[in-house]
Amino acid sequence: MNPASPEPAVSIKTGARPRLSAKAERFTESVIREMTRLALKHGAVNLSQGFPDFPAPAEIKRAAQEAISADINQYAITWGGKKFRDAIAEKFERDSGVPVDPEREITVCCGSTEAMMSSMMAIINPGDEVVVFEPFYENYGPDAILSGATPRFVKLRAPDWSIDLDELAAAFGPSTKAIILNTPNNPTGKVFERRELEAIRDLCHRWNAFAITDEIYEHMLYDGAKHISMASIDGMHDRTITINALSKTYSVTGWRVGWAIAPPDVTAAIRKVHDFLTVGAAAPLQEAGVTALKFPQSYYDTLAHEYAHRRDRLLGILAQAGFRCFKPRGAYYIMTDISAFGFPDDVAFAKYLVTEIGVAAVPGSSFYEDPADGRTHLRFTFCKTEKTFQAAAERLAKIRA
Ligand SMILES: Cc1ncc(COP(=O)(O)O)c(C=O)c1O
Repeated sequence: MNPASPEPAVSIKTGARPRLSAKAERFTESVIREMTRLALKHGAVNLSQGFPDFPAPAEIKRAAQEAISADINQYAITWGGKKFRDAIAEKFERDSGVPVDPEREITVCCGSTEAMMSSMMAIINPGDEVVVFEPFYENYGPDAILSGATPRFVKLRAPDWSIDLDELAAAFGPSTKAIILNTPNNPTGKVFERRELEAIRDLCHRWNAFAITDEIYEHMLYDGAKHISMASIDGMHDRTITINALSKTYSVTGWRVGWAIAPPDVTAAIRKVHDFLTVGAAAPLQEAGVTALKFPQSYYDTLAHEYAHRRDRLLGILAQAGFRCFKPRGAYYIMTDISAFGFPDDVAFAKYLVTEIGVAAVPGSSFYEDPADGRTHLRFTFCKTEKTFQAAAERLAKIRA
């Protein structure tokens, strides 16, 4: 070979250079979103993806319409409209007791999905690891891959989804950049307790790591469970990135408005990533978000009360159909054990349910790194109306027939 004209490492002509990015090849399409498509195709009752099938509050729909009529139709400030950031800061302080500077500590994003991605891209360097509790909301896997982090999984153990603190400690080390926490938790319904958050705090301090905490289900709490924001734990304000959104609390998952609350230096990095990824979230919907965030406490009490009723309704339907259920203390999902049905695995059973019975649910394997760990689980959501529950009950009754 002539050193003056070296062959390119990979020849374009021969097609040996990969056409697609190695990162994109490392994860599959979302199983949750795929189940929704299957539900539509087979006319199934959709208890898979977590979006309400009941209306959003009239006041915020009106506020969105008025914002569009008032011509709030151009780019908002890239990191979020001022009134909206002020409202986020006020609500966060009211709920968690933690003061936030809306000028330097908040980035409004396109849903909590983008807030998580931008946050991870803002702090991760090659070689960094992130600790993730498993089962996990399926986005966290691709989030880690896309940001370049190596995930280290720590099991939440059924039936109460408890943590083995030794296992958790063993997952931390000099390469740990962050732990991703989701409380109340999807898919398990676990609500992390103060002692658990303090144990995580101690590890974050020991290894100089961040906590990225997804608190999108903060208002869906049952049986006296209390939500504690990680940022309110002593010594965590300066190393916590709190992710949240309008999506679940105000039943507007299609609006795509979320945010990240983080210390000023971290926020500066998140804002840059966010700006070049998306420029900004929908301006009129941020305006409507101001109305939402100013709702009185009674709105949240009613929300939790109504969801408790829906949870009990779906628990009853599933138990009647032969599922073993893990009773959630928060969020709006029920993890079930499907061993009794004798199917080879969760995917086979989910396919049978959607095609033969007419009910869509999410295979447990999509919440685990190793699919084998989720093969006896199926997740159902209960953010649905009575009409949907009634239809699901009738169809699920056929399983046993
Ligand atoms: C834990 C968790 N985080 C984030 C999201 C997505 O939120 P958003 O619609 O705000 O992007 C979901 C949606 O199901 C979720 O369950």
